[in-house]
Amino acid sequence: MPGKILVTPRSLTAEDAATHPLLEPLRAAGFEIVSGPAGRQPEAAELRDLVGDIDGWIAGVEPIDAETLAAAGNLRVISRNGAGADAIDLAAATARGIRVETARGANARGVAELALGLILGSLRQIPAANTLLHEGGWARTRGREVAEVTVGIVGFGAIGRHVAATILQLGGRVVAFDPFVTEAPEGVELVNLATLFRVSNVVTLHAPPPADGTALVGRDQLALLPTGSVLINTARSALVDHAAVLDAYADGTLTAYAVDAFATEPPVLDAVLSHPQTLLTPHIGAFTGASTQRAAEAAVENLLAALTGQ
Ligand SMILES: NC(=O)c1ccc[n+]([C@@H]2O[C@H](COP(=O)([O-])OP(=O)(O)OC[C@H]3O[C@@H](n4cnc5c(N)ncnc54)[C@H](O)[C@@H]3O)[C@@H](O)[C@H]2O)c1
Repeated sequence: MPGKILVTPRSLTAEDAATHPLLEPLRAAGFEIVSGPAGRQPEAAELRDLVGDIDGWIAGVEPIDAETLAAAGNLRVISRNGAGADAIDLAAATARGIRVETARGANARGVAELALGLILGSLRQIPAANTLLHEGGWARTRGREVAEVTVGIVGFGAIGRHVAATILQLGGRVVAFDPFVTEAPEGVELVNLATLFRVSNVVTLHAPPPADGTALVGRDQLALLPTGSVLINTARSALVDHAAVLDAYADGTLTAYAVDAFATEPPVLDAVLSHPQTLLTPHIGAFTGASTQRAAEAAVENLLAALTGQ
């Protein structure tokens, strides 16, 4: 029964997939491993060349469209090494009987810690201060402590809950919006989206992008924020309307927008992404030793279970 498994996450292909210790359970079960391009996201054309005779796929964040799935005649299971499946054409996968598994929660701690870093970095303006001093300048900006602010969490899933717990430990107030959550732990107030934007000095996004491609955060939401607020996006850049961010910078509503995951990677630096108040990180939320290990273990386990019918 064993066949071929394609492995494409950048964190796994950076090392030789043929000997990667986290892929040992696949080799032990008799599967042959096929690696994507070393340490980088594969292009669509490369994927179409790689998927011809694979049975399973450990996938990263690369887009997997209907054309790629059509070229994968034997493919039965795609197992993501992360939480989101938004880069996969799920309708096309379902139509072809391809099962899609996700490693829900496995990398939540890594992403939550990056979000916390971006929150603290924005509240104290650490990146701008560092740049200024390297340029020979000297200016001291009065910052804010977490206990001085309200943090609004959009998407109260695995990552959102970790962020909430950390903010509460630092003495901050937490509100959260999630249309699918009805109960929250002590200290977290569930509110609607408009209320969240009205009361939060920091908004941090931990939801999938809406399937119809519209932004969840646009002018209507940003206009509700108190002056001098901060927006953190470690989820997906498509959640935020970039033109609205520019307006919010111009009128002082936003002092910082931090973003970690982009429409294309590396990103095209538009007016928002190249703006000095925008803080960029290269999709490193889940890129920690512990998170990549947990996510790879979960992806391998989910793939094996699905392929062997458990
Ligand atoms: N930067 C990174 O490296 C990185 C790594 C992992 C995940 N992510 C992204 O972070 C996000 C959250 O991941 P997670 O592991 O917490 O997922 P999760 O599935 O555990 O939680 C997502 C939550 O969002 C909620 N949600 C769905 N639609 C919503 C909406 N319109 N408004 C508000 N909430 C909504 C869901 O009910 C769910 O509770 C995803 O977009 C994921 O792709 C980024």
